[in-house]
Amino acid sequence: SSNNQFANAPDTDYAQAELRQKGQQALEQVRNSLGKTYLPLIDGEYVETAEYINSVNPSRSSEIVGKIGLISVEQAEQAMQAAKTAFPTWQKTPATERAAILRKAAQIMEEKRHELNAWICLEVGKILPQADAEVSEAIDFCRYYADEMERLDSGYNYDIAGETNRYFYQPRGIAVVISPWNFPFAIATGMTVAALVTGNCTLLKPAETSSVIAAKIIEILVQAGIPKGVIQFVPGKGSQVGAYMVEHPDTHVIAFTGSREVGCRIYAEAAKLKPEQKHLKRVIAEMGGKNAIIVDESADLDQAVAGVVSSAFGYTGQKCSACSRVIVLEPIYNTFIERLVEATKSLNVGVADAPSTQVGPVIDANARDRILEYIAKGKEECQLALSMSAPDGGYFIPPTIFSDVSPDATIAQEEIFGPVLAVIKASNFDEALTIANSTDYALTGGLYSRTPDHIDRAYQEFEVGNLYINRTITGAIVARQPFGGFKLSGVGSKAGGPDYLLQFLEPRVVTENI
Ligand code: SER
Repeated sequence: SSNNQFANAPDTDYAQAELRQKGQQALEQVRNSLGKTYLPLIDGEYVETAEYINSVNPSRSSEIVGKIGLISVEQAEQAMQAAKTAFPTWQKTPATERAAILRKAAQIMEEKRHELNAWICLEVGKILPQADAEVSEAIDFCRYYADEMERLDSGYNYDIAGETNRYFYQPRGIAVVISPWNFPFAIATGMTVAALVTGNCTLLKPAETSSVIAAKIIEILVQAGIPKGVIQFVPGKGSQVGAYMVEHPDTHVIAFTGSREVGCRIYAEAAKLKPEQKHLKRVIAEMGGKNAIIVDESADLDQAVAGVVSSAFGYTGQKCSACSRVIVLEPIYNTFIERLVEATKSLNVGVADAPSTQVGPVIDANARDRILEYIAKGKEECQLALSMSAPDGGYFIPPTIFSDVSPDATIAQEEIFGPVLAVIKASNFDEALTIANSTDYALTGGLYSRTPDHIDRAYQEFEVGNLYINRTITGAIVARQPFGGFKLSGVGSKAGGPDYLLQFLEPRVVTENI
């Protein structure tokens, strides 16, 4: 069945001069408020910490966006205890009241849209139109999960003569949310509000490089009316306080989005039963991808080239949904590469806050170095088809394309999380599908084709969570393309879809003999 009622928040139309100007003004205002300190929120209080880190602008690495207090393990324990204390009341708060807080949060986000876009742009190096799409997605998550919670709250009624059978849901308890830097606003908001609206007390630990944006989310949720202790902001070192909260016997749900390495570790750690623990933990882990687009000989090449360029190099390839392999059928292989290289060459690489920029920086020096290692590896294994120059002053890596890549080459198998694209030749459609399915991942995929039989086969045989036909493979929209993968791309049901909230709830049935 379809969801026809849900209305997605529209993105800003930057074609309008007035709105472009608003975007630029917000950037200036936010630039004047850089360098402030953001503290953890524990039991309703902003608390001092022993350690701090700087979050820097990846476009200009000398610019400090904000200073973030990192909690200690003792403070993580305090946050846990406060969450436990807040739980009984939050659990009993009617679902409609919890949903109303999410709708209020959505309204605040809408009002602050330009300011939030500017923070995203400056903290993680995302160009304004893409930051804006994230704010829309966060608003959608708030409104959609509010609706979903109200739907689930009515439960199910399986009454028969002489007996009532009532199926209903209760919250699980304490949720630890570990959010990524690449969608610092949308994904952090989505996981957090899902945990909250289902009645769980929630601790948000953001990726260090996007802590300022996470602090803004917390401010909005508090302003919207989430009570003290119900939401806590616990920035800290993943290996230390992140691990502590994952392993904590009072944690019930862990919602994680990030790398495969960390996701697999969380899954394993969460499975260990602690002496005081009386439940098993639920883990939702959205991890990586090695997403492929197949371009067959019947494809509209203009559309295919534009779609691949946008899917591969949008946000500098730093989306789990990004295209990192393009599998091209032999008859059009040479033409496609030529046109792909020409189109990519015309991309403007530069600071994320310049209106002309299409490809900004990568997130930090570690990411840059890791991606450069993959590029070096690619040069050993494959043919370099395009390398461009990059500006100075930030963590820039220009779009890089390799051709004649063997399907089992390192750069065709491992997630790079940067602007590096492997072009692979296939002699027929069967082979193209086999290559597409030959990685550990199953997140997104794409097909450009005008051959009905190929499209039908892709529906059935292209093993990914989200398959896109004749369009880009990133930018899933809430309640339209519920998003998430399987195999080593993750565990759990799709974000922005009808099964998502169930993961945060415990179903119960009460039978009464009457
Ligand atoms: N949901 C994002 C996309 O579809 C990825 O996390 O691009």
